[in-house]
Amino acid sequence: MASRKISPGGTINGAVELPGDKSISHRYAIIAALAEGPSEIANYASAADCRSTLECLRRLGVEIATKDRLVHIAGKGLDGLQEPRKPLDAENSGSTMRMLSGVLAGQRFRSVITGDDSLRRRPMRRIIDPLRQMSADIHGDDRGCAPLEIRGGNLHAIDFTPPTPSAQVKSAILFAGLYADAVTTVHESVRTRDHTEIALREFGANIEVSRGAIRIHPRPKLAPRRLIVPGDISGAVFLLAAALILPDSSLLLHNVGLNPTRSRVLDFLISLGAKIHVPALASRDGELVGDVSVNYAPLAGGEISGAQVAEMIDELPMLAALGPFTEKGIEIHDAQELRLKESDRISTLAAGLRAMGARVEEFPDGLRVEGKEGPAGRSAAAPGAKLHGATVDPCGDHRIAMALAVAALGAEGKSTIRDAECVGVSFPEFFDTLERLRGLS
Ligand code: S3P
Repeated sequence: MASRKISPGGTINGAVELPGDKSISHRYAIIAALAEGPSEIANYASAADCRSTLECLRRLGVEIATKDRLVHIAGKGLDGLQEPRKPLDAENSGSTMRMLSGVLAGQRFRSVITGDDSLRRRPMRRIIDPLRQMSADIHGDDRGCAPLEIRGGNLHAIDFTPPTPSAQVKSAILFAGLYADAVTTVHESVRTRDHTEIALREFGANIEVSRGAIRIHPRPKLAPRRLIVPGDISGAVFLLAAALILPDSSLLLHNVGLNPTRSRVLDFLISLGAKIHVPALASRDGELVGDVSVNYAPLAGGEISGAQVAEMIDELPMLAALGPFTEKGIEIHDAQELRLKESDRISTLAAGLRAMGARVEEFPDGLRVEGKEGPAGRSAAAPGAKLHGATVDPCGDHRIAMALAVAALGAEGKSTIRDAECVGVSFPEFFDTLERLRGLS
């Protein structure tokens, strides 16, 4: 697979319109397929994961036409999906597999959903167990992994608290709840992204949210919609971080999704000393959207734990990789979920950063990446490590590839990111955008 060379230095300057948010695109596509009539989704994510969702929906008999980032979906109503002739392939996309399984649990036909090697290693009991409680017939392999075989229909409503905070699990149950015999409730002790709740309401579902309890009423008539997907804040963070590593940088990001369940990462960067501004917020299709500007500023360092983890789960690799560029480093705890993502993100990132000379301590639930000051008590004569260029392996994980590529901008000497095209899973334009902003293309 193709690797990518990164030469360090330069500045980030300019403005970018980001591709559509991956999480929101999945949800709009799935709900549009269940609506009664044609929906139009603009700025649909260019992410390969979101194409996987469209392909699965096509195999379920949904007509979908795409032109650039505009997607037309001919919704078939809650009961219009057809039994697929072949297994559905979610490829690398956990969101596709987990959220679609909720929909499939409501169908009277048999379906099988599978994925690539990485996805077939990821835990699916977290959706198998609650969907079985709703009386779906759903089986994985003996480790509770995909392929999943699902025979649905006649679902019972449940009152469920996911043992691990997860927006994908919450969404799977809410989608199954559309087909249940009464009101289904999901309780959240830790808040996770609420795009499913917002999108279901936009399409006309009856959904109530109060004090951590989300209640979905069954069998709504979902109305088709025209929607615009906001720019992906999780992709934006890699560009923001590049501007915070390279002195004199100045970057403007247009129309970024700023849903409060996703934008905590900006507050965290500001708490480190980043000069980030959001001049105005607008509400579009129930989601907050705004421009985000950043100017280079030195960063202090900080810690992330507890409820912050779920709110910044996809940004943690980039935040950790900022560690060597901060004064005091970055320390992350309570993030054992990172080990269950597209790769074991704690060990993949630690290995990559160490190869570049960073000092990294790995914990079962996180990591500490040393800053410029070095460990507490170390004298100024023995400062933390400065990064040097290296060949690094992101293990096929898009967010690790981008985090290491951005760290490589601040290293001494060239780096090589192996298997770099894996960034296409969430942000195919990443390397081109970075080059353009650095004036290299
Ligand atoms: C997502 C939820 C998160 C996140 C993933 C996308 C979503 O996963 O890491 O990239 O769109 O709901 P979990 O639900 O497993 O925390």
